[in-house]
Amino acid sequence: MADGSSFYITTPIFYVNDVPHIGHAYTEVAADVIARWHRQAGEDTWSLTGTDEHGQKILRTATANGVTPQEWADKLVADAWVPLLETVDVANDDFIRTTEPRHEQNVQKFLQKLYDDGHIYTGEYEGYYCVGCEEYKQESELVAGTGEYEGQLVCAIHSKPVELLHEKNYFFRTSAFAERLLALYEERPDFVQPESARNEVLGWVRSGLADLSISRSTFDWGVKVPWDETHVVYVWFDALLNYITAVGYGQDDEEFARRWPAQHIVGKDILRFHAVIWPAMLMAAGLEVPRGVFGHGWLLVGGEKMSKSKLTGIAPEQITDVFGSDAFRYYFLSAISFGQDGSFSWEDLAARYQAELANGFGNLASRVIAMVTRYCEGVVPSAGALTEADLEISAIERRATEDSWAAIERLAVHEAIAAAWELVDALNGYLTAEEPWSLAKDPAKRERLETVLAVAYHGLGTLAVLLSPVLPKATAKLWTALGAPGTVQGQRIDRAHEATLGERVSALEALFPRVEVAE
Ligand code: MSP
Repeated sequence: MADGSSFYITTPIFYVNDVPHIGHAYTEVAADVIARWHRQAGEDTWSLTGTDEHGQKILRTATANGVTPQEWADKLVADAWVPLLETVDVANDDFIRTTEPRHEQNVQKFLQKLYDDGHIYTGEYEGYYCVGCEEYKQESELVAGTGEYEGQLVCAIHSKPVELLHEKNYFFRTSAFAERLLALYEERPDFVQPESARNEVLGWVRSGLADLSISRSTFDWGVKVPWDETHVVYVWFDALLNYITAVGYGQDDEEFARRWPAQHIVGKDILRFHAVIWPAMLMAAGLEVPRGVFGHGWLLVGGEKMSKSKLTGIAPEQITDVFGSDAFRYYFLSAISFGQDGSFSWEDLAARYQAELANGFGNLASRVIAMVTRYCEGVVPSAGALTEADLEISAIERRATEDSWAAIERLAVHEAIAAAWELVDALNGYLTAEEPWSLAKDPAKRERLETVLAVAYHGLGTLAVLLSPVLPKATAKLWTALGAPGTVQGQRIDRAHEATLGERVSALEALFPRVEVAE
């Protein structure tokens, strides 16, 4: 990390055939927490999300609903995908739609360059296509259908029949980049994370790369191939380019140089596109490969990837309406190791909300503010002579600050939260051991009371800063109650333990009020 260094992070762009579920929201909040953390460490941060609007899947959904694909996309973006960002409190810097001119024009520029430089040729392909994945599948990726699809081959991810397609298309010579890709994974072992994802990617590339069909001619909902308008660009080839068209590729060289390369956060289902095809496309165009690709796990329901098409999708508002956006963010990022699959359950969410957020952090904040109010008329006391216990809290403040930032730099979001939470636990333990409420009963112990409250107040200030990327709403309220200057998000997170705090506290409403969970 260096002050002012550039940090560009992206989410996948989401298909607009349907509304978001908590799996999509999970990716959004993970990227947002990492972005906020880097921003608060003083880096020149840019976070991008958006929507993937071309291709057969969207075209078919729109047609089935009796509207044009553009009308369908406009409606879903306005009614569902942009509002999702507010629902889970995402502070993105940009939102790209693949139907915007800034994208379409530069997709054409990119493609033309590859064509002119000999990376594209015409060929024929026959294979099984899954419209849900928008991808040709190998037979090894198909399984026998059950129920209404008995006797047919279905996609292992979507459980829906694949279609046998035979087309004359344009192809991208992906195979020409196999050696360079292997060298990349070798030289930069953290290019693909986590380790399990890297191994999978290595396996694919070592077993041989097929060239990629990058155009379709049987429908026209897409970006036109510039030298042959009877073809549209394959939706994945089009979509991956969003990461560069959004930051000036082809139109603003200065902006592009400032932002690129990006750290991509994606679900592991789309790892092959991001860790193999995308870097090969960039190599072909003579551009820098991404900073890295992190493939996170799936949210599972009943042991399977949650999905709307399998009717297991849970809408993010079902959770945020009851628990709030902070709890959504905290729960999914602390309860699941980032990179692993995780099962969602209402019981687990409710239990952690109560134990960790309400009783652990929320209660700590209310008690400290209430005691400074009651015993010191709201004026933040100064510490007197320090005991070992007081010094231990300062040491934990520093450690939590350093460890959480180091974890974020490794993209270990759950470890970053756990490192900050050491301070929540330490402060709760400190209050239990020091019993400021007992000290308050004895005027002879006034100095000790003031020292304990000063130490606890300071610890709370550090916590507010450290947890602000994960709990933006609660920590903003806490910052105000602490009487601290500026905004909590304006504080340097890599120096959280040194934050300048205030002189006078004010009332703090319960940060995580009791919730009633309907049976
Ligand atoms: N449009 C493509 C991505 C193009 S990126 C150049 C796409 N879209 S998607 O809407 O189907 O899914 C995108 C992402 O949503 C997944 O990669 C993943 O990050 C997230 N998830 C969708 N379902 C999920 C779960 N059940 N669990 C966790 N994340 C999930 O693929």
